[in-house]
This record gives sequence, C-alpha cells and structure tokens, in this order.
Amino acid sequence: RRDELLFSYKGILYPTTVCSPETFKALESFEVRRNDVILAGYPKSGTNWLSQILTDLIAISQKKTPGSESSVNAEEEEEPYLEIGDAEKYERMTKLPSPRLMVTHLRPENLPKSIFQNKAKMLLLIRNPKDVATSYYHFSNGLALLPSYETWDDFFTDFMTKKMAWGCYLEYLSEWNKYADKENIMTITYEEVKENPALSVKNIATFFGIPLTEEQLQLVVERSSFQSMKKNSDKTHGSFGNIFFRKGGVSDWKNLFNEDQSKRMDKAFEEHIAGTKLGKKLKY
Ligand code: PPS
Repeated sequence: RRDELLFSYKGILYPTTVCSPETFKALESFEVRRNDVILAGYPKSGTNWLSQILTDLIAISQKKTPGSESSVNAEEEEEPYLEIGDAEKYERMTKLPSPRLMVTHLRPENLPKSIFQNKAKMLLLIRNPKDVATSYYHFSNGLALLPSYETWDDFFTDFMTKKMAWGCYLEYLSEWNKYADKENIMTITYEEVKENPALSVKNIATFFGIPLTEEQLQLVVERSSFQSMKKNSDKTHGSFGNIFFRKGGVSDWKNLFNEDQSKRMDKAFEEHIAGTKLGKKLKY
C-alpha cells in the first residue's frame, strides 16, 4: 500500500495522488516573476495559515477588501501549491496576473532555478520539528493521501529515517539554511506568528512592500486566526477542514513523544541544525 501511495523523485518521496514526475520535470523550466510571492514550508509547518495571510495582503496591495467577492476571481485561480497538479499548470500560470501566490513544500534544490535568479521575494516558514512530527502523524492518519500508521512509534521511526513524503524535515532545514542569508528571503517561525500575529503580519507586509492601515492589519489578523480559519474551512477545505485545522497550537508534541524519542530528536537537532542560522531562529 505504501508503495502505491508514494513515489520517489530525485531521492525524495511524494504522494502519488497529487504529485507526478511529469509535473516535476515541467516545473524545472517554470519562469518565476520577480514580483511573485512565494511561501516555502515543510508539510505541517503552517503553510495554509501563512498562505491565508499572504492572500489577504495581496488583495490589499491591489486595493481590494480581503474576503470580499471582488477579491477572488475564480478564473484566475490555480492550485497554489507549486508542485501539486498536472504538468500543464505552469503553462496556465503564465496567463495569471501578478502578483501570483505560490506555496511549496519543496527543498530549494528542487525548485525552478528562476526563483533564485530573479530574486523573487520568498517567505520561509519553519516550525519546531517535534510539533511538525506530531501534526504530520495526525495528518497521515487522517487523509487517504498518505500511508497511515498503527502506532505513533512506527511514525516516529519513519520520520527520523527519512521515509516521509517531501523528505526528512531536518534535512529540509539544513538545505534551506544555505539560503537563509539571502536578502530576498524572510524567515519566520510558526511560534512567533502564534505569539504575536499582529507584529508578524506587519513584518511580512513590510518585507513584501505592502502598506497597511491599522484597520487592514486587524482584519488580516482576525481572518487568519485559527478559530476563523477552522470555522471557514468547510468552504476552503470541504470535509477535510478538521484535518487541516486540528489544534493550531504549540507543544502538542508533549502528548506523543516519550522521553527517549524526545532525546533522540534533541540529539539529531543538535547534530544537524542547532548551530545554524535557521536552528538559532527555531523555537526549539
Ligand atoms: S499542510 O497539510 O502540509 O499544508 O499543513 P500546513 O498548513 O502546513 O500545517 C498544518 C498545521 O498548521 C495549523 N494551522 C494553524 N495554526 C495556527 N493558526 C492558524 N490559523 C492555523 N491554520 C492551520 C494546523 O492546525 C496544523 O497544525 P496542528 O498542530 O496539526 O494543529
């Protein structure tokens, strides 16, 4: 079953139902525009959340009211996750107006070269690996897209031994760390947005050059709260709402990790990430 659900591309696993080698091949030559808005984050690091914030900020930059009818144009919509969908999506995306929002779980080396060449601005979202693992475990058991697990222990073993869709999170972090100094990349943690959403939204808007009134800021913060997004999830995610918007908090890992597992993650984190720029920024 596992073999049917996942396939390997350039040494990394992906879900068969939403990704394909043809799409990855087509992505290589995709031309990113300088004013595209790109959000990068490993699965379960809060990409739906930050994508909501960016969608509203883009609407504001276009003088539209977030959430209003006129802020969405169905004809212009395309699956925002860059690597998800058919191989023709990049051709269709050439017709979309700027700025286009793109979200990706990919590592930098698997993104189109044009992203780094033309200096499109990118938000890199990171989250405590223990909470990522916790969220990923519940997600894997909630969606038929991914292999499910009998026990948390089985999942933990796979998480630590690189058997996850989109690859190993610690490796993801060390690959992205090579880009963390670039001026066109802003790094943000899930935990800091949670702690101070208004300041985070303000910083993100400033980075993308989008002026905000106090009222607009409050609206974006309100619309992106966990409660609002969960409430609205039947419209955005259909019957999967409860799976995508599960708890939305910090430190839920304490309900799953035993002491040994926690120490194992600490050790791996220490060895691979702790001393790096991203490692220092992570709330670990
Ligand atoms: S996915 O499926 O990979 O795209 O998942 P992703 O959206 O990256 O991450 C899902 C986790 O983010 C939580 N989430 C939020 N937290 C706080 N505020 C808001 N608004 C919000 N929206 C989503 C979501 O609940 C998942 O975390 P867990 O810990 O499982 O609750």
